Amino acid sequence: MRWTHAAGRGLLVLLIVLTGYVTSGVQAREAGAGGRGPLTLATAGDLTGYLGPLLEGWNRAHPRERVTLVELPDSTDESRAQMITDLSGSGRGRFDVLNIDVNWTSEFAAAGWIRPLERSRFPLGTFLPPVVDTATYDGRLYAVPYVTNAGLLLYRKDILDKEGVAPPRTWAELEKYAETIAPEYGLDGYAGQFLPYEGLTVNAAEAVYSAGGTILGDEGARVTVDSAAAREGIGFLVRGVREGWIPREALTYKEEESKQAFQDGRLLFLRNWPYAYVAASQPGSRVAGRVGAVPLPGPDGPATSVLGGSNLAVSTHARHPDTAARLLAYLTGERVQRQVLTRGALPPVRADLYRDPGLIRRFPYLPTLRESVLAAAPRPKSARYDQVSLVVQAVVHDAMTGRQTPEAAVRRLARELDALTG
Ligand code: GLC
Repeated sequence: MRWTHAAGRGLLVLLIVLTGYVTSGVQAREAGAGGRGPLTLATAGDLTGYLGPLLEGWNRAHPRERVTLVELPDSTDESRAQMITDLSGSGRGRFDVLNIDVNWTSEFAAAGWIRPLERSRFPLGTFLPPVVDTATYDGRLYAVPYVTNAGLLLYRKDILDKEGVAPPRTWAELEKYAETIAPEYGLDGYAGQFLPYEGLTVNAAEAVYSAGGTILGDEGARVTVDSAAAREGIGFLVRGVREGWIPREALTYKEEESKQAFQDGRLLFLRNWPYAYVAASQPGSRVAGRVGAVPLPGPDGPATSVLGGSNLAVSTHARHPDTAARLLAYLTGERVQRQVLTRGALPPVRADLYRDPGLIRRFPYLPTLRESVLAAAPRPKSARYDQVSLVVQAVVHDAMTGRQTPEAAVRRLARELDALTG
């Protein structure tokens, strides 16, 4: 066919109509364009049991837009699996709003399971800067930051005081105290989250980053793990199990089991998120009043934590997107964010709360935590992050159980990650 003016004009009109159609389709799918009514909110295990009562506040004020909490398993991996089953099914899923781990945002957005949100509806400018980035994918906002997280080292203050030593700042100090002081008190030395699941990926990445290494570069597109620093980082964890200052039992720990071990008075040191410090300091904990928290130690000083936390997203099939967007704004507002900390023992995303003298008196770790969050390393924004994490967990667990040397583990990591990204 010859290209005529008329055909050109016709095509142009068609293009304009199509563009308008696509744009309005995108707009209609943005949360906020739809109606109001009841909703479900799916979340991984609410470890401090605060969210149900908190949502009652919303429900009392919005009787026609009640939110029903759906609590999924504690482990972020199992919750992800259940969320995906719900969101990717043929019909409309049960979940309207999702409290997703920061590391799944890209995958959910790329798959089209959650919808883009209008930035102007949420107080993004009041949040700690690194958290906003975890909620964006491909330049668009797909979720609203809700909780942040960074690892801390909990330690038995009573014991270190008695021994006249300051809390460890380096791996060498941690190893020495875990090896020599812990047994004198009938304790195990050090634990983190070492079961093969996302928690182990976090602990392994922290060890690698702290030694100066990386796992992936260019937002997950390039494998960078084959380095002396990665061998040193993984070597630290492997040595702990081999030398006995990491108990073998810790190879089965997630957050809760490791918290329990510390709280029962079985551990001198524990890497965990701040909620564990609050739990261990409360009446009911056998070590209440005898616990301290400092930044994670690294080879020559404070380590780099992985940036944790969760974001609130709206399912593409949400029944009432306008209510969903209003709920997100409510949960990230000043009052609820304060309660996230005071009732949930979780690190809020609003920056001003970390400077509040009243809160600092109640939660003395807040300034340390703020620094750790600001310096924390985000996980790669890859739609295939889950695959990357599975490789890291499997390889590092094999190394920690003694099936592979740190050197062989790093070579295998590079090979398996290459196969994924290549
Ligand atoms: C915490 C963190 C989350 C992390 C998970 C690992 O829930 O907030 O980001 O992925 O622990 O177990």
